[in-house]
Amino acid sequence: MAQPADHHFDVIVVGGGAIGLSTGYHLGKRKAKTLVLEQFNFKNQLGSSAGVSRQYRIPYPEEYMVQMALDAQPYWDELQTLTPKTLLDKVGTLWFGDPAVHSTEGNIAEAEQALKALNVPYTSLTAKEIEAQYHFRNLPETYTGLFQADGASIDFRATIETLYQACERDPYTILQDESPVTAIEQDGKLFTVSTPKGVFTGEKLVLVPGPYIDGVINLLGFTIEATYWNMSSCYFKKTDPKIQYPTWFVFQNAIGSNGNQFYGFPGVDWDHPEYIRVAPDFVIDPLASPEQRTLVPNPQELAYTAAWVRDHMTGLDPTPYFTSTCLIALSKIPNKELLIDFAPPYVPNSQNIVVYATGWAAKFTPFLGKILTELALDGHSTFDISPFKLGYNYFKAI
Ligand code: BEZ
Repeated sequence: MAQPADHHFDVIVVGGGAIGLSTGYHLGKRKAKTLVLEQFNFKNQLGSSAGVSRQYRIPYPEEYMVQMALDAQPYWDELQTLTPKTLLDKVGTLWFGDPAVHSTEGNIAEAEQALKALNVPYTSLTAKEIEAQYHFRNLPETYTGLFQADGASIDFRATIETLYQACERDPYTILQDESPVTAIEQDGKLFTVSTPKGVFTGEKLVLVPGPYIDGVINLLGFTIEATYWNMSSCYFKKTDPKIQYPTWFVFQNAIGSNGNQFYGFPGVDWDHPEYIRVAPDFVIDPLASPEQRTLVPNPQELAYTAAWVRDHMTGLDPTPYFTSTCLIALSKIPNKELLIDFAPPYVPNSQNIVVYATGWAAKFTPFLGKILTELALDGHSTFDISPFKLGYNYFKAI
């Protein structure tokens, strides 16, 4: 990748995953001269943008998250106009399981309340109806569920490719790979960002390096309370070629110290078409830092997932065939999945440093780029970010 001839930018975006590319795209639309720095290669498999599919869903236990999912829809529609590939395959969201369980995704009853409050249509289901309509089996009678028809399987590879190409076409946005940021200095209102490929200056910073967030914000003298999950994923061969599932998530109590939540996708023609992806939504060993991750899925997590498929799904051979991993940072702050804010005020020039960190944000990709762009260029967003702000106790000085 050629190095930029010019070294001064309106905005420097640190992190070239889905959210960094989306921010580069939206900044380019606003004609802001933008540099997007990626420490590895663009479209790599080493951060939170790894893997090829994600779930777009509207059910959340918090009304503000339901609203965010609804607000994201027009931005997906806009991105869709840039590619002939279908980015969202609207197969619906099926949430089911023990209604008393609170998982990292929330709780079914609370999600129903939030959907009702915002007039989002959905259908309530009994265990027998879930089995009859969606090919699951052997579910405890006490399980309940909901189906929300606007949920979708995201072609995340196509999403990232579309954003990457849009940035490449944009005369205002420069993409630079193999550029880990090694230092950030400030001279008055100007940031100087050092990388092995060059030193760049910028008026504003947007920091979106996914699970590598701490390594970047430490350069500015602060840190974040996070845990890191190296999430495993598996593909199971269809024994019934016609079997189809929606995107789904099952809420169950953990067995001992191990997780017991699983989620899955429909079969798709763009990713292992003979297979269906099912994954655990837990890790047996959370990591203290991203450096501890390996690219090897945890065998016990794969075994639990295979047992779930064997016991509760139909039309699949319960042997995990293909596997993958994805590294994610999760906030340790209760009820704060996504952190969207400016740097804390003790950092000089904090109002010109925008940070997005932690959580599962793929479903918001095109919208989050827009929000971060508004924060960087306007100092505020038309979308209310107050539920996502950190509070100064949480960004700690180092
Ligand atoms: C989500 O919808 O946020 C999600 C689904 C499955 C695993 C993790 C997150």
